[in-house]
Amino acid sequence: MSKIKFHHPKIHKTEDGSDTLMHSEQQELYHSRFGAYTEGQHIFINHGISRLNLPDQHPIQVLELGLGSGLNALLTWVYSDQHNQSIQYSSIEKYPVHPDIISSIHFDTTANQLAQHRDKLLQIHNCDWNQWQELSPLFQLQKIYGDFENHISDQGYHIIYYDAFAPEAQPDLWDETAMAHCYDLLADDGIWISYCAKGYVKRNLRKAGFEVKALPGPPRKREITLAIKKGLNK
Ligand SMILES: C[S@@+](CC[C@H](N)C(=O)[O-])C[C@H]1O[C@@H](n2cnc3c(N)ncnc32)[C@H](O)[C@@H]1O
Repeated sequence: MSKIKFHHPKIHKTEDGSDTLMHSEQQELYHSRFGAYTEGQHIFINHGISRLNLPDQHPIQVLELGLGSGLNALLTWVYSDQHNQSIQYSSIEKYPVHPDIISSIHFDTTANQLAQHRDKLLQIHNCDWNQWQELSPLFQLQKIYGDFENHISDQGYHIIYYDAFAPEAQPDLWDETAMAHCYDLLADDGIWISYCAKGYVKRNLRKAGFEVKALPGPPRKREITLAIKKGLNK
C-alpha cells in the first residue's frame, strides 16, 4: 500500500458562513462559493440519500468521489443519527487533505448545528485509511486512498455522490468511460447525484444506460443532476 501524500489546500469562507477549500494545483474550490454547507446538504442529503427507500435496517452503501474536507461524510453521518439509518460510506480520495487543515475548518452557519458535531469531523479525518472503521453503531467509513477511475468493487452501491472538480478541470472524470464506470459500480435502482448539470455530462450518463433527471439546484445554481440505474424489472 503506498504511503499517503497529504495536501494542504487553503481555507476559504463561503457566502453561507461555512468554509471550503481551494486545491493548490487545480486552483479549484471544493464547494460552491455561495455556500459549502448549503450546497452539500441540498444535493447529497436532501436530493440524494433521502430519496433512497430501502427496507428497514438495510445498510445504505454510499460511494463518494472525493472525501476532500469530509463535509459530505459528516452530513451523511448526522443523517444516519437523525434517521436511525445504518450507512456504510466509502470515499475515494486521490489528494487527501492534511488533518492540520481540518483542525481549522468550520462548517457552521445560522442554518445548521454542525459545530456540535466537530468531534465527528475529526474522527472522519483521523481514522486510518483503506480499512473499514466503525465510527458509530450506525455509521461505518472506509476512506480509500486512490483514483476513482481505478476503483473496482462488486459491492453494488446504492448511491454515488459524484463530487469531482468541474469538467473543465478534470475532463476524464466526466466522459463516457467514467459514466459507464459509475453505472457498473451501482446496484440496480442505484442513483448517481452531482452538482454538475452540463449537457454533455447528461448525454454521457444516458449513453452509459442511466435515466437522467434535472433537479432544482442550491442557491445561485438552476439545476443539478440525478441519474438512475433502472433495474431489469422496471
Ligand atoms: C469538488 S472537491 C469535493 C470534496 C468533498 N466531497 C468535500 O465535501 O469536501 C473534489 C474532490 O475530489 C478529489 N479528487 C479529484 N480527482 C480525484 C480522483 N481521480 N479520484 C479520487 N478523488 C479525486 C479531490 O482531491 C477533492 O477532494
